[in-house]
Amino acid sequence: MKVCVVGTGYVGLTTGVSLAFLGHEVTCVDLDQEKVDMLRGGRCPIYEPGMEELLAEAAPNLTFTTSYAEGVPGADVVFVAVQTPSAPDGSPDLRYLRSAAESVAQSLDHDFTVVVNKSTVPIGSGNWVDAILRDSFATRADRAQDQDARPCEFSVASNPEFLREGNAIHDTLFPDRIVIGSDNPRALEVLNHLYRPLINQTFTPPTFQPRPDDTTAVPLVSTDLASAELIKYAANAFLALKISYVNEIGQLAGKVGADITEVARGIGLDQRIGSRFLEPGVGWGGSCFGKDTKALIATASEYKYDMPIVQAARDVNQRQREIAVERLQSELRILKGRKIGLLGVAFKPNTDDLRDSPALDIAQLLVARGARVKLHDPIAGDRFRREYPEMAPHLSDTLDGVFDDCDAVVLVTKWAQYLELDWGKFVGLMRTPIVLDGRNVLDQDRMERLGFRYLSMAG
Ligand SMILES: NC(=O)c1ccc[n+]([C@@H]2O[C@H](COP(=O)([O-])OP(=O)(O)OC[C@H]3O[C@@H](n4cnc5c(N)ncnc54)[C@H](O)[C@@H]3O)[C@@H](O)[C@H]2O)c1
Repeated sequence: MKVCVVGTGYVGLTTGVSLAFLGHEVTCVDLDQEKVDMLRGGRCPIYEPGMEELLAEAAPNLTFTTSYAEGVPGADVVFVAVQTPSAPDGSPDLRYLRSAAESVAQSLDHDFTVVVNKSTVPIGSGNWVDAILRDSFATRADRAQDQDARPCEFSVASNPEFLREGNAIHDTLFPDRIVIGSDNPRALEVLNHLYRPLINQTFTPPTFQPRPDDTTAVPLVSTDLASAELIKYAANAFLALKISYVNEIGQLAGKVGADITEVARGIGLDQRIGSRFLEPGVGWGGSCFGKDTKALIATASEYKYDMPIVQAARDVNQRQREIAVERLQSELRILKGRKIGLLGVAFKPNTDDLRDSPALDIAQLLVARGARVKLHDPIAGDRFRREYPEMAPHLSDTLDGVFDDCDAVVLVTKWAQYLELDWGKFVGLMRTPIVLDGRNVLDQDRMERLGFRYLSMAG
């Protein structure tokens, strides 16, 4: 099938490259010329394991352009995967989506095109995009002047994305489920056809990403527009609150002298609960959970409806960041003038995404209390310098630069490099060898044997 993907960020790029790998003819449109040039050269503008390899494999079916006119005409499906950041009031800022929809409408030229919202958009956005498409389409001079223009129909659908950055290719090729929503059965049929190879798992996986043994077929949830939109928000809010829940229990565990690792294991083995997303620590970050929980609350408020559970998940998450700073303060007594090292800037390992990263908040809270902060990240350093130039002096390219004369280090991001670190090599560099395990992943006995004073997030 002929596919156009608008926006080549984490989601759009993964979608476009994966669909091209599956044999569809894909054109990716992005307004960012630099990104498009990099992608044309086979280089990936984001850090995502396997993406450059998949780009190379899918290259014969892939085109990158800044021009909608090269991608939209003739497309059976147009995915819109532009960013939807939070506006100051918590609702999603939909201006990128509006502009993309207007541009798509100016180039539509096919007997039937499904325009798919892949961006995470508030409930009701499908109808809103439909109205924008129709208004913008109606203004087209080319069609007004050509009475014999061939019929051009289009319909809006929702296809929320559930990929995890760092595992984007795995999650796209072997998803837990595919959700499609539309009020037009023909649009659902087109998407069903597009995703057949994934649903039936009939494709040969890339060599570097073998099919998991238990993936034989992928469930398809084919539903109406509003339900598909709500599924995305409800899933993200649930995951966010699962993490906040274990963090809330973790604080109580510290107070009553229980071991949160054991508690989480004991809870997670209950198959009704499951062990994933029950990892205590400094909490979640990233482009989705914060934004989507905020948007869900904002949508509910339009209906004069409170969502206290979702709000609590947000509050607990913010508190974890503050607790990390409190832990250091109660150990060091005075933070002013102390040097604190933060290991990890990316919001999670295997990505260079810094959006809503706990490390940024913790660094700012520490700086506000007069501490000297040094941050390190194995991958996200360049992006950090570009996106946070005012904080760039706090970045160290070397671990020595972080540990040297340091009063405490905090493990913020669970990068494999930190877990496998020869910690004994660094203990002697520190002024006071305190480590705060912000991800509950270091072996306390081992760290203490090496000479560290080990602090956990639980009190
Ligand atoms: N990142 C994730 O893990 C993830 C997961 C699920 C859902 N989502 C949702 O997917 C959407 C995209 O997220 P992302 O992380 O890929 O965003 P991103 O910021 O990485 O990428 C967005 C891209 O869209 C391009 N763009 C913006 N306006 C455009 C326009 N009018 N025409 C063409 N290109 C345009 C930008 O240049 C950018 O390359 C968001 O709604 C997000 O909430 C993200």
